[in-house]
Amino acid sequence: MNSVKINDIECNLLKSTAGNSGLDISEILKQNKSKFFDPGFAMTASCESKITYINGEQGLLAHRGYDIQDITANKTFLETMYLILKGDFPNQSELQNLIDIFNNIKVETELFQKIVSNIPKNSHPMSVLMTLSASFTALKSTKSKIEDSFVKSIDMIKNLLAMVCFTFRHHSGQEFQDLHKGDFDYTKYFISNAGINISEYGQSGIECLDKILTLHIDHGQNASTSTTRMIASSECNLYGSVTGAIASLWGFLHGGANEAVLSMLENIGSVENVDKFFQDVKDKKAKLMGFGHRVYKNYDPRAAALKKYAHNIISSDKKNSALLKIADLIEQKALNDEYFVSRKLFPNVDFYSGLVYKSFGIHKDLFTCIFAVSRVVGWCAHFDEANSQGIKIWRPGQVYTGETGKKI
Ligand code: CMC
Repeated sequence: MNSVKINDIECNLLKSTAGNSGLDISEILKQNKSKFFDPGFAMTASCESKITYINGEQGLLAHRGYDIQDITANKTFLETMYLILKGDFPNQSELQNLIDIFNNIKVETELFQKIVSNIPKNSHPMSVLMTLSASFTALKSTKSKIEDSFVKSIDMIKNLLAMVCFTFRHHSGQEFQDLHKGDFDYTKYFISNAGINISEYGQSGIECLDKILTLHIDHGQNASTSTTRMIASSECNLYGSVTGAIASLWGFLHGGANEAVLSMLENIGSVENVDKFFQDVKDKKAKLMGFGHRVYKNYDPRAAALKKYAHNIISSDKKNSALLKIADLIEQKALNDEYFVSRKLFPNVDFYSGLVYKSFGIHKDLFTCIFAVSRVVGWCAHFDEANSQGIKIWRPGQVYTGETGKKI
């Protein structure tokens, strides 16, 4: 069926391959002189996409048709990056080609060094990242365009990764040094150049971070990805669109939640205080950060994986075991509490990630930058997909409720 009739009005149906289809109700609205009123776009599909599928009722996440659990069990972040950008996993020579592109891309070290040295030391890392990204946009506007969209994406991704490394070094008061040697490896580049010391965890620490990055790589039309598409819709370039996406990611309801979760756990302080905190949440005096999701009405599969990593890492890190105990107790209580059960509130990707980062010695202000190091891949893929679909500027309407007919 390509259309359905509602009150005798023919509405086009955009069929999906999985999940909800899209119903074009513009004809009904036109005839009723109305707009579709949908605050927060909870009922609105803004575009078609072939990149990521989420079934919120079943707690399922798939990229390009592959289940996220299958991906994290068998593939690296770099291979998954290729999947997201190109549509399928690379073979050996395609992977080498990707690594060669990364090897050849120049990081704008001089620019980033100059900019970062002028930013106050106590600025929030996400604001530093936004500033660096805006300066990269400015620089790119003076250079000839990269025509190949794949190479352009990798250029953006590698430079954003470097910007985050600069941001980490700025935060800890260290000079940036390019410590990466040999063939490009995304996660190792991040660890060595950002100055993250996880040597005590050996290879399993590197693998854990690589999997965490993989879990964050894309998530459909979340706020920052929608921001990318929104900005792209006015024919703004990739660099400007990504800069806007970073701002959107920063908020506590989106990527900033990982930082907020850690602050919340630290404020709760001990398992004895959990009951009081729960009462505050139910009385709407507090919010349980890292819980709830617009799409998932079941356990977020990314949270399940992160919970496992947090337990593995923290079992050998006694310092943070008290916070993990608080997190575990919160989850156990929430899953059995009418307030959370009736609203279908489960842990999301941000509930356990901060505990792993803290064990890795990373300051909580930097957590959301790690999200950006991964999600930039999704932003680039959606930017390209939006452009390949033809540009229609995003221009939502409104229901005007202000005064009318006033005279000066
Ligand atoms: N703690 C307490 N109550 C909550 C929470 C929460 N974390 N999340 C939702 N609720 C309640 C909300 O108060 C409302 O209750 P009522 O029906 O009594 O008014 C009901 O559940 C429905 O919530 P909503 O705010 O309408 O749901 P939403 O889809 O608009 O918001 C959300 C989704 C993720 C913004 C929200 O659940 C939230 O604020 N969670 C905490 C922040 C967080 O963890 N964000 C990370 C999201 S996952 C990573 C990402 O995408 O970046």
